[in-house]
Amino acid sequence: MSPNQPATVAPKRQMHLMLFPMFTGAHVAGWRHPGADPGRMHDVAFHTQVVQTAEKAKFDAVFYSDAQGFRTVVGRDVHSRNDVSRMDPLVLLSALSMVTSRIGLIATLSTSYNEPYAAARRLASLDHISHGRAGWNVVTSTTRNEARNFGREAHYGHAERYARAEEFVDVARGLWDSWDDDAFLVDKADGRFFDPDKLHGLAHQGKFFSVSGPLTTARSPQGHPVIVQAGASDAGQDLAARCADVVFMSNPDMASSQDFYAAFKTKVAGFGRDPADCKLLPSIQPIVAETEARAHEIVAELAALIHPDVAISMLELALGGAVDLHGLDPDGPLPEILETESSKSTRAKVLAMAEGRSIIELARKIAAVRTSSGLVGTPEQVADHLQTWFENGAADGFVITAPFLPGSLDAFVDGVVPILQQRGLFRTDYAGETLRDHLGLARPASRYEAQPELHVEPEIWQPD
Ligand SMILES: Cc1cc2nc3c(=O)[nH]c(=O)nc-3n(C[C@H](O)[C@H](O)[C@H](O)COP(=O)(O)O)c2cc1C
Repeated sequence: MSPNQPATVAPKRQMHLMLFPMFTGAHVAGWRHPGADPGRMHDVAFHTQVVQTAEKAKFDAVFYSDAQGFRTVVGRDVHSRNDVSRMDPLVLLSALSMVTSRIGLIATLSTSYNEPYAAARRLASLDHISHGRAGWNVVTSTTRNEARNFGREAHYGHAERYARAEEFVDVARGLWDSWDDDAFLVDKADGRFFDPDKLHGLAHQGKFFSVSGPLTTARSPQGHPVIVQAGASDAGQDLAARCADVVFMSNPDMASSQDFYAAFKTKVAGFGRDPADCKLLPSIQPIVAETEARAHEIVAELAALIHPDVAISMLELALGGAVDLHGLDPDGPLPEILETESSKSTRAKVLAMAEGRSIIELARKIAAVRTSSGLVGTPEQVADHLQTWFENGAADGFVITAPFLPGSLDAFVDGVVPILQQRGLFRTDYAGETLRDHLGLARPASRYEAQPELHVEPEIWQPD
């Protein structure tokens, strides 16, 4: 470099923000708040309004959660639950892709109650439809209610569902490479629609799946849709460290997030990956208002709106469905809880909080913890909090769960985002087109580009 040339200044690291709308809002009583509009939860115009708000604020992505069965265990609280009806995230996001142009669109899809071929194809289709904005939140499902909708009496065991998930994701990734990027010639003059030499079979024979391939959908704009994972157990973390581009964290405080962040990045490196290629985003539920006092008032308003049946059912769910607490004296202590295969990490956290609390006290505490991150304050205070976590090894960005919609999202977007932008901590405009662009992630090359010897002749040419 010549002495007159200015030294290149490394661009400032910026955080990633994703919106987790949970349909009517994430707080279990949020739908009862005056700032919510729950009557419109099945109206695509409502979701359009929410996602366009996030896109205007330059969020990286919106993420829709899912369960193919009630997430409540006993169901006595069902009258007050706002998560009993959802729309299929892939279908909803396909619609939302048509009224947005830049924001990433992440759909949850369970590896326990889907087949990898159909899943890979639907996700690749969303990536085509959205011009490269699709993401997949890989979940293994947590309740037996889902199992019962798919011909099983019980949910898969924890180890088995993660083994299945790992094979599921491998098969999906293999299928996404079925077609080389330049396989489609569409040569009208020559009459050649595609080049058969650029098409690959899969011939996968594993413990859980047998998939011949190829995928009947061309390689998508991102090559592979962005993979998101939120497993907290060792098995969940291993899956995420091996294959996830984004990890949703749910650690309760900065110290535990820092520990998780450091250990997890090391784990990612252990799989031969660059730790920077896996973005760690704690999920937070900020309650923002013009004054601190008003923000705390909103917290109290929300807590007062939680129905007691809901609190006890949330506790049962957190304990993995091991016990029916509704028949017990709510002012008595928690009985001894047997270990189940469901959500091991969550269960351990709950048992640690049971000490010295009655069932209803513990239930209210769990409901409060599960429905508020404790991040309550003015836009300035919330921005300070995010900055501190981001600059101290606790986060690459955040999943913003809105307690109620659209009110709490508007408060965050109008109040906090401009402050983060003024501080240079968040983009003021999108620099790229795809979700991978927003996340600073490279488009994965096809496995056959680096290793042509992996090619498998498609079986489709053989007569039946
Ligand atoms: C932000 C966030 C979103 C999640 N979304 C879903 C979801 O939509 N569906 C689901 O079945 N599980 C969801 N989970 C649960 C995780 O996939 C995972 O099962 C849970 O964190 C427990 O970890 P473990 O399975 O490793 O024990 C979510 C978790 C987090 C932190």
